[in-house]
Amino acid sequence: MNPMRPVTPVKRIYFNEVATRDGFQNEPCFIATDDKVALVDALGECGYAKIEVTSFTSPKAIPMLRDAEEVMGRIHRAPGVEYSVLVPNLRGAERALESRADELNLVMSVSETHNLANLRMPRDKSLAALSEVIRHVDGATPINVSLSCGFGCPMEGDVPQGELLRWAERFAGLGVRGLTICDTTGMAHPAQVSRMAEALQQHFSGLQLTLHFHNTRGMGLANVLAAVQSGITRLDGSLGGLGGCPYAPGASGNVTSEDAIHMLDAMGYDTGINLPQLLAVARLMPQIVGHDVPGQVAKAGRITDLHPAPDFVAALRGQPA
Ligand code: COA
Ligand code: ZN
Repeated sequence: MNPMRPVTPVKRIYFNEVATRDGFQNEPCFIATDDKVALVDALGECGYAKIEVTSFTSPKAIPMLRDAEEVMGRIHRAPGVEYSVLVPNLRGAERALESRADELNLVMSVSETHNLANLRMPRDKSLAALSEVIRHVDGATPINVSLSCGFGCPMEGDVPQGELLRWAERFAGLGVRGLTICDTTGMAHPAQVSRMAEALQQHFSGLQLTLHFHNTRGMGLANVLAAVQSGITRLDGSLGGLGGCPYAPGASGNVTSEDAIHMLDAMGYDTGINLPQLLAVARLMPQIVGHDVPGQVAKAGRITDLHPAPDFVAALRGQPA
């Protein structure tokens, strides 16, 4: 080895776990509050940068997360982990501040139709309402803005990159800490992700930039790879691959956290995650939600988890060629 050759630094990737918000909001049966608290506590020990614990939305709109206050009040907060919550409006922001969330994740869609379906208002009204939230919070807690349908809308189709960038620009101008561009219904493909990642880093170099993928069409891991190879260092994922959006027809699971982390880990990225510990938690998911989940590595094991060879292999080895 050439001692003069610079050692390539290991690239750090920061994961935000969204299973208890994006995942549980979409489950057919209410997940018991005790199970939610226990899961967040277990995830807090795995090395995540951030956990999106719940949402402070209308309990009529998202009944599965109607226990948001209780969950936030009972979780044990691990040092170094940020506990974030999704907030759709001022009422939600007040509840989130009361619960001592580390970050408020505001949400609106860059598709007019999806915004009307999900948040019951046109985009301009959402922008005005979220601007009011940002003024109200006044720097007391960091704010992230998640822009839904950033890569396409299931009802409108194509969302031009320029349109996404214009909405992102408005929030950057309001002084938010970070932006998450969401592929809410799994419409992004890797070439589009690379273009988006480059444009985001060019326009918003001072902001925390996160990408949020769904595996609806099997492109989730390919999109994660395109994102990190284009310089993105923050990703959302959902344990077991749970997730969806109640107002997006055809939406299904987020990219599976443990599968994405396993892939990046194998490639030499530093995810900060204790993978065996995470897989042990992931293996509890079917029991928690009462059905099978899409994640694959929890079923197959890591690529380094080898299997004993069948007995006859040893006998065959001893035979002359
Ligand atoms: N927390 C608790 N209750 C809330 C609330 C909040 N953040 N925002 C509104 N409400 C209540 C109101 O008090 C009202 O209750 P009432 O019927 O008992 O009087 C009811 O919800 C309707 O309020 P309104 O202001 O008319 O809101 P809306 O019906 O237009 O709904 C949203 C707007 C955004 C609050 C609602 O659609 C929502 O929470 N959507 C969830 C979006 C989401 O999380 N999607 C998935 C993630 S992308
Ligand atoms: Zn999502």
